[in-house]
Amino acid sequence: MIKSFGVIGAGTMGNGIAQVAARSGLLVVMRDVSDEYLRRGFKSIDKSLQRDVDKQRLAPEEKERILGRIKPTTEMEELRETDFIVEAVTEDFAAKATLFRELDKLVRPDVIFATNTSSISITRLGAATTRPGRFIGMHFMNPVPVMKLVEVIRGIATSDETYATTRDLAESMGKTPVEVNDAPGFVSNRVLMPMINEAVFALYEGVGAPGAIDQIMKLGMNHPMGPLELADFIGLDVCLAIMNVLYDGFNDSKYRPCPLLKKYVDAGWLGRKSGKGFYEYQN
Ligand SMILES: NC(=O)c1ccc[n+]([C@@H]2O[C@H](COP(=O)([O-])OP(=O)(O)OC[C@H]3O[C@@H](n4cnc5c(N)ncnc54)[C@H](O)[C@@H]3O)[C@@H](O)[C@H]2O)c1
Repeated sequence: MIKSFGVIGAGTMGNGIAQVAARSGLLVVMRDVSDEYLRRGFKSIDKSLQRDVDKQRLAPEEKERILGRIKPTTEMEELRETDFIVEAVTEDFAAKATLFRELDKLVRPDVIFATNTSSISITRLGAATTRPGRFIGMHFMNPVPVMKLVEVIRGIATSDETYATTRDLAESMGKTPVEVNDAPGFVSNRVLMPMINEAVFALYEGVGAPGAIDQIMKLGMNHPMGPLELADFIGLDVCLAIMNVLYDGFNDSKYRPCPLLKKYVDAGWLGRKSGKGFYEYQN
């Protein structure tokens, strides 16, 4: 029975995951490396819940109860008694592997480790621990409180029991889990990123202006955001990193990142977060 839930990383994804877990009734330990990151993460949860209070979708007392179930900490030790841990730290194999090795020594051997990685091999990360059978991908979508999907990725050694526990947990958080196997980009980014990359090629080759490319996909295909708009939202550095994972993982030229995408990243034009990508943003 999972009662206490650990979230590592209080960034964009980590604080969203902590919020939905606490809202589902779990006691959450949210760990990051500094108080400043924790403060920012907690503030973002507070703001998101307040929006629901303002829209009368959440009672103010319930908001306080949810916040009261989240314990922000910089101490690894606080995770010792948790029953399930999701990692949402920086997208870097070495950083994640080091973290899981440390956790491996700290928590009970029956505790499941889940990673929210967008692209790193679940099999490879699981093999860095002594519990590859209890290691799984739990890929939430951004923004976590809004998006229904959790892509649940089984590594080669992930046990059926680990899968079933993770699926049930995602459902108890109000999400819809979808099971896939481990492969570069899983399903979500394997399908999404080449579409975004192709839109960048269309721009690069002068087939259409950004607004035209996005409008065609919105009006013609009923996509809520155009591919270039979406790339700016995700971050062009993140898009490039995922294309590189696909390219290296399959050794197939069809995943070649568009040179224009590389050039934008080299220029520091990373999308919304840097104020400029395919579009310009204030603040
Ligand atoms: N942003 C997205 O749209 C999105 C969507 C799906 C999955 N992901 C994945 O989720 C993960 C997190 O992404 P994000 O966008 O939230 O990143 P982010 O940069 O917003 O947050 C990462 C946080 O992890 C913290 N951190 C780094 N090392 C740590 C450690 N050892 N212990 C504790 N905290 C540590 C950082 O201080 C930071 O606060 C990545 O693997 C990313 O690929 C991101």
